[in-house]
Amino acid sequence: MKRSDLRVFMIATAFAVAITFSLPARAQDASGLYKSRCAMCHGADGSKLDAHNLQTSDVQKMSDADLSGVITNGKGKMPASHGLKPEDVKGLVDYVRTLKK
Ligand code: HEC
Repeated sequence: MKRSDLRVFMIATAFAVAITFSLPARAQDASGLYKSRCAMCHGADGSKLDAHNLQTSDVQKMSDADLSGVITNGKGKMPASHGLKPEDVKGLVDYVRTLKK
């Protein structure tokens, strides 16, 4: 192998490793975020607040945009979640969808 070939090979390997590690990490991120930012009020399964049970159709029928709005801006006694990236908010919306019963 020529020196330049070796460099290309190493860069390609570094990319492959980075992609392999970043994909599953991103999928897990929202559940970690939910645990650290939401579960203390809503419970791990979303059912802790009786009147605002995230599993119920009242919440599940909300649009993605409405859910993103509540998560980003808060609502009533729920505080706004600061410092979330757009993909974090999207991940949390997807996560709330997984709580449906
Ligand atoms: C400090 C406690 C608290 C935290 C933290 C919190 N929530 Fe809430 N959440 C509430 C309360 C209280 C309501 C009801 C707000 C209202 O309608 O007055 C609510 C409402 C909601 C609703 C709308 C449900 C409805 O019935 O209107 C959604 C969706 C929701 N929360 C998701 C989340 C997510 C996702 C997170 C994490 C990013 C989160 N919440 C963090 C307390 C909290």
